Amino acid sequence: MSTFKIKDVLTRVYNSKRPAVADLELLLSLATEPETRILYAYADRVRKKFAGNGILLRGIIEFDNNCRNNCLYCGLNRQNKHIKRYRLTQSQVLDSVARMAAQGIKTVVLQSGEASDLDAEWLAIVIREIKQRHHLAVTLSVGEQDLKTYRLWREAGADRYLLKIETTDREIYQAMHPEMDYDRRVTCLRNLKKLGYQVGSGIIIGLRGQTRSSIARDILFFQRHGFDMIGIGPFIPHYQTRLAKDKKGEALLTLNALALTRIVTRFSHLPATTALGSMEQDYRREGLQAGANVLMPNFTPQPYRRYYELYPGKRCVNEAVGACVPCLAGLVASIKRHLDFSYGHTLMR
Ligand code: 5AD
Ligand code: FES
Repeated sequence: MSTFKIKDVLTRVYNSKRPAVADLELLLSLATEPETRILYAYADRVRKKFAGNGILLRGIIEFDNNCRNNCLYCGLNRQNKHIKRYRLTQSQVLDSVARMAAQGIKTVVLQSGEASDLDAEWLAIVIREIKQRHHLAVTLSVGEQDLKTYRLWREAGADRYLLKIETTDREIYQAMHPEMDYDRRVTCLRNLKKLGYQVGSGIIIGLRGQTRSSIARDILFFQRHGFDMIGIGPFIPHYQTRLAKDKKGEALLTLNALALTRIVTRFSHLPATTALGSMEQDYRREGLQAGANVLMPNFTPQPYRRYYELYPGKRCVNEAVGACVPCLAGLVASIKRHLDFSYGHTLMR
């Protein structure tokens, strides 16, 4: 496609309150280096204008890998009997948080599977302790819960919540999550927003049956909901799941979706996801140059990290707690950007 045509479509998408699916599809299909260079440079300018040059850090602690769900793509699904299940103690979580705070990080992400015996008050205590001891921003990523539980955690001091929609294509959603319900997930996202959380969502690129048109609709969904944060990563097949033999998501399509999400949503915080960094090469650098402005160093204590295996080849599984920050400083210096040690609250309001 000619440079002129690409720029024309980009301008139309950027300036539109509701871009056309066909325009988004066309940009998602860009594949040659000269074409994607134009797309990524555009997204990079939009990122710089609305989110600045700093790269925000969110330290993630994967505190529990038990899960009641049965997502086809996920290595933690309850049918996987081959992995060792673990749950950190409150003091293990708080020790990791202290290490993170000592390195200057201001946001902790507490992530887990959806354990059927999750004790909401247990987590509320952890949240209160973190707020009292370190004043960090607290982000939860603990799946679908009832309104009462979301309220308890919000009142305990949680600031943000991540709940990916994974795909907005109802048919694919149902196929990937046999016992779950698309509408219930959207209701959860609405409840979180009502409670005053900064809300994050996101998708997986390369799920079976997913088309460029369905990704285009995902991006419009992000725009309609005005999410504060959006995570986009490639599908990576896990050998102990029913999708073991499926094709992995493409880095190219993931980067195109990321770039377009930046152009369409403007202010949302977009991580260069760990999945993007766990492919045949570390594509997080490319992600940061195609619209992303966030990195998520891993602070899950050893020896548990390898057991949080959402997908194989997940990066940093052998590193010690604390090792990711200097590594990421090197990564961002190589693209002439810098780490931003501020809270990085939402830019949407
Ligand atoms: N490939 C890529 N991403 C995955 N996730 C889970 N399993 C996989 C996989 N096989 C992502 C989902 C989930 C997040 C915690 O990890 O998007 O929301
Ligand atoms: Fe974890 Fe590089 S980001 S070691």
